[in-house]
Amino acid sequence: MRKPFIAGNWKMNKTPAEAREMVENLKELVTDVEGVDMAVCPPAVDLDAVQEVLADSEISRGAQNMHWESSGAFTGEISAAMLQELGVEYVILGHSERREIFKETDQEVNRKVQKALKENLKPIICVGETLEERENGKTREKVSFQVKAALAGVDSSPLTDVTIAYEPLWAIGTGESASAGDAAETIAAIREVIAEIAPGKEEEIRVQYGGSVKPHNIAEFMAEDQIDGALVGGASLEAESFAGVIKKCQKEEQNH
Ligand code: 13P
Repeated sequence: MRKPFIAGNWKMNKTPAEAREMVENLKELVTDVEGVDMAVCPPAVDLDAVQEVLADSEISRGAQNMHWESSGAFTGEISAAMLQELGVEYVILGHSERREIFKETDQEVNRKVQKALKENLKPIICVGETLEERENGKTREKVSFQVKAALAGVDSSPLTDVTIAYEPLWAIGTGESASAGDAAETIAAIREVIAEIAPGKEEEIRVQYGGSVKPHNIAEFMAEDQIDGALVGGASLEAESFAGVIKKCQKEEQNH
C-alpha cells in the first residue's frame, strides 16, 4: 500500500520571515497527523529558516528546482549538495512553469532527475498536458512521452524514490481542477509507462495529482486508488488550508 504524500509548492512566494511564520503555524496544526507524508517546497532562500523550524518535525522539505552539475560556472543555479546541507529531502523537477516560462527541456529534466537520485534527493517529476493537447486527445501521449523522457537511463532500483506529479496545465492556478476520474485515468496510463520501463515499479511509485487542489476537493482525488496524494500550489501558502488538505487526505485514508 502506497502511503499518501502531500507536498506544497510555494512557487515564488514568501520571504524567509514569512516562511518561518507559516511553518511554525503548520507544525502546530499537523502534530496529530498520521499515515501521510508531508512536505513543503519553499523558495531556496527560505530553506534555512524553514529547516530551523521543522528540523524535529514530521514535515519534510523540498526544493523547487536544482541544477544537474555538482558545481561550477552556472550563475543563479543551485546544486544538490547545497540543498542537502539544508535538510532537503525532495526536489520538484520539470514543473510546467519551468518548462513553459524558462524553456526547460525534457533532456534537462532527465539530467536533473539522474543527478538528484545520485545525490539521494527524491525527485517529484511534474508532467501534464496543455488545454490544446487535451482537446486534441493527446493527453496520454504527452504525459507518456514526458515520463519516459524524464526517466530515461535511470536504474530501476532508485525509482522507488521517485514521485510523479500529474499536473494538467489548464488546471494550475485556475480553480478548475481535473475530475478525479479523469486524473485517475491519466495516472493509470502513467503507471503503464512505468511498467514498461521497470516492471513491478508501477505499484511502488507514488503518483500525485496537482492543479487547483483545495481542502474541499482533495477527498475526491484521494478516493481514487490510482492517486497517492497531491502537489498543492495556492492552497499550500496558508497553514490552515494546507493543513486542511493534509487532514482530509488522512481521513480518506482511514476510511479505506
Ligand atoms: P495550484 O494548486 O495553485 O493550482 O498549483 C498547482 C501546482 O502547480 C503545484 O505544483
